[in-house]
Amino acid sequence: VTTANPPVRRLADWSADRLREFADEHGTPLYVVDIERVRENAARLRESFPDAAIDYAVKANARTPVLAAIAEVGFGAECASAGEVVRACEAGFADVRYTAVNPPARDLDRVVECADEHEITITVGALDTLDALAERDWSGEIYVRVNPGVGAGHHEKVRTGADPKFGIPIDRAAAAVRDADERGFAVEGLHAHAGSGILETEDLAAHRALVERMSDLADEIAAANIDLDTVSVGGGFGVPYRDTEAPLDVDTLARATREAFSADARLGIEPGRYLVADAGVLLAEVTTVKPTPETTVVGVDAGMTTLARPALYDAFHEIRSLVATVEGRETVAATVAGPVCESGDVLGRDRELPAPERGDFLAVGNAGAYGYEMASTYNSRPRPAIVALDGDGGELCVRRETIADLGRLER
Ligand code: LLP
Repeated sequence: VTTANPPVRRLADWSADRLREFADEHGTPLYVVDIERVRENAARLRESFPDAAIDYAVKANARTPVLAAIAEVGFGAECASAGEVVRACEAGFADVRYTAVNPPARDLDRVVECADEHEITITVGALDTLDALAERDWSGEIYVRVNPGVGAGHHEKVRTGADPKFGIPIDRAAAAVRDADERGFAVEGLHAHAGSGILETEDLAAHRALVERMSDLADEIAAANIDLDTVSVGGGFGVPYRDTEAPLDVDTLARATREAFSADARLGIEPGRYLVADAGVLLAEVTTVKPTPETTVVGVDAGMTTLARPALYDAFHEIRSLVATVEGRETVAATVAGPVCESGDVLGRDRELPAPERGDFLAVGNAGAYGYEMASTYNSRPRPAIVALDGDGGELCVRRETIADLGRLER
């Protein structure tokens, strides 16, 4: 029996034949994103959180077919920049929230302009931002971002909840809300985010602590006769990157969140990774195979400029060979390395692969979140193309960047 909408799609669940065809047709490096899988992930999350306000964290994957599919299921959008706000509005989101982290003036100008035509809320994480909004006669709704003093996540660089950069310290937040209210701002909500990649027990405990703290704060604010519509407890729901890791049980997480959430306001969540990570893979071609005393170095045409996560966070992504038959190939322990002139440009170490040969295609799993979005043109290397699958068909949705594109901004 196959389970419809399984909680996780492993790299092995993708059809190697189909992926190879895409690589043949469109070249590599190539991202493939399965829009139907995004919908499945959204449906599962909605089932677990039936009455929560769900805003998709656009930063995880901001390509138009992904945005359009999530907008269509009725989620809102949580945006980190004016660029994301504009793209989310264009993709059809009805509710768009801009989380202003040290917002550049240009971003605020653009977001305020967008609000003429779209329903936009701005989350304020510093009192200075209130002043900046007052200067722009902002009359729309705001959320106040709280620093909950508790962080969670897969790497120190993404545990925002315990980092003073983000939000107003929780013991000053009630005063900030009263202040904003007295100044005439429409304070609709509170927001906090523990961090990204919550999977382990200790991260779940940290998340729960955040929910409790935010509920207490909401009660304190309600006692001051300020009605809050929503309290967003952030995103961060993790996905398993190794096949030995168990998927997050979102039902249990939802129940625990509900139990810890005592505020009268509506519960809000803002997942990014959970909706898109396992909907994407990255395809690369083997360019060189070099036996060395330490390891077999398998050179590929994708690297840290294509998928930054391994170099940036030492993140693990599964890697699989797409060869049609492994017969006659011994298994080797490989270091899969990219074309960039840095020793950190490695997609995976000690990977057991059927002895790769030049021209083989490899697939890298869970590349749908923070993959293409974090790609760069370092080493003057153009960014890859993306194929979007929906049902049977696969369409090129982002063309490959060219070397000519790289010089286009110069004058
Ligand atoms: N809300 C806020 C305010 C956030 O800052 C983030 C992520 C999210 C929601 C969504 O988090 P998610 O559900 O995707 O974990 N580039 C890193 C992740 C950075 C996340 C930053 N903030 C990575 O590749 O692991």
